[in-house]
Amino acid sequence: MSHWYDVGPEGLVPEGEVAGVNAGGKPIALVLHEGSHYALYDLCTHGEAQLSEGWVEDGCLECPLHQGKFCLKTGEAVSAPVYEPVAAFEVRVRDGRIEVFA
Ligand code: FES
Repeated sequence: MSHWYDVGPEGLVPEGEVAGVNAGGKPIALVLHEGSHYALYDLCTHGEAQLSEGWVEDGCLECPLHQGKFCLKTGEAVSAPVYEPVAAFEVRVRDGRIEVFA
């Protein structure tokens, strides 16, 4: 059963950057891109890399290990060597707090 989890204050992640947070025990890579937050599961589907250690590029989150890319909006694998998607979670901001549905 999924719930909205408070993962931190608005402003936690600077524009164009990514931070590792925890939503109900799930590791989440939280991104702020062009004013919107995105949340992807924080483990690459290619290897043992945390996507929160990667960087944001062209609307994607790029893995730090072999530069595979995942779509910020859908978690879809968009660039080799990643072929399996990661889970993407809904994000909202309420009363100055960031919440992830995970
Ligand atoms: Fe992420 Fe290889 S571990 S691309």
